[in-house]
Amino acid sequence: MGMYAVTGAASGIGKAVTQQLRDAGHEVITVDLRGADINADLSDESQCAEVVRRVREQAADGLDGLVPCAGLGPDVPRKTLLPLVNFFGTVSLVEGLRPQLRQKRGAIVLVSSNSAQMTDYDTQYMDALLAGDRAAAAQFADTLHGQVLYGGGKQALARWMRRENAAYAAEGIRMNAIAPGYTETGMTAAGEESPEYGDAIRAFKASIPIRRAGRAEDQANAVLFLLSDKASFISGSVLFVDGGHDASFRPDRF
Ligand SMILES: NC(=O)c1ccc[n+]([C@@H]2O[C@H](COP(=O)([O-])OP(=O)(O)OC[C@H]3O[C@@H](n4cnc5c(N)ncnc54)[C@H](O)[C@@H]3O)[C@@H](O)[C@H]2O)c1
Repeated sequence: MGMYAVTGAASGIGKAVTQQLRDAGHEVITVDLRGADINADLSDESQCAEVVRRVREQAADGLDGLVPCAGLGPDVPRKTLLPLVNFFGTVSLVEGLRPQLRQKRGAIVLVSSNSAQMTDYDTQYMDALLAGDRAAAAQFADTLHGQVLYGGGKQALARWMRRENAAYAAEGIRMNAIAPGYTETGMTAAGEESPEYGDAIRAFKASIPIRRAGRAEDQANAVLFLLSDKASFISGSVLFVDGGHDASFRPDRF
């Protein structure tokens, strides 16, 4: 059976991915702020490096897969966490664990979002992320709205994945992303309770073509497929798992 690492594994999508992998008999090294095999704050560069060191130690024979799910939603009080965790925390783990993934010709599934495509996000912010400039990207938190930091960061993550895809594929590593739509987890529960955004979020949820919100298991099903050999010719793709929302927003752009 395989060896996998999952971040954000204590809650929501990461928890469901971990459960499904374990149910299938795989070993999973979990990472989260608390309640995981490795507890760490992925907004912090040195803690990311320590997570990489510990996963490398625990997966000395290599990794079959990596699913960096840890992330925060747009409505977060410390907005700098959006670029630091959602983008840099994810990319640093992927890069740091690349040798372990190469060892077993493993697969990576990133978690972008269908909000990555909802509008044209701030180009300078995305350029700072893609240039790997943590300080410059974090400064945008002073001026940009949480939704712009969130959606722009998720779009930058998908772009990073597509840009890097050929180099990873050449080493036998398949890298893809899911783009979840509205999915009921701890993250969205907080939004629905927000006095500022609650009504808008409920209306948004009601407009999902499939006529229900996503569940963490829906996202995990897609992740497990992309990790599996059934997806062996799929690389560099962004799979929308959103009940048809993206198709209804942008029917002619794909
Ligand atoms: N729920 C949705 O509607 C939705 C939609 C699109 C994308 N996403 C993405 O899915 C991923 C998982 O989100 P979720 O919905 O399961 O939310 P969640 O809040 O249930 O889980 C997120 C997990 O990330 C962990 N985390 C947050 N900050 C961290 C940090 N600094 N260091 C380590 N761990 C940290 C949290 O502790 C939590 O366990 C996120 O990247 C999110 O952006 C979610």
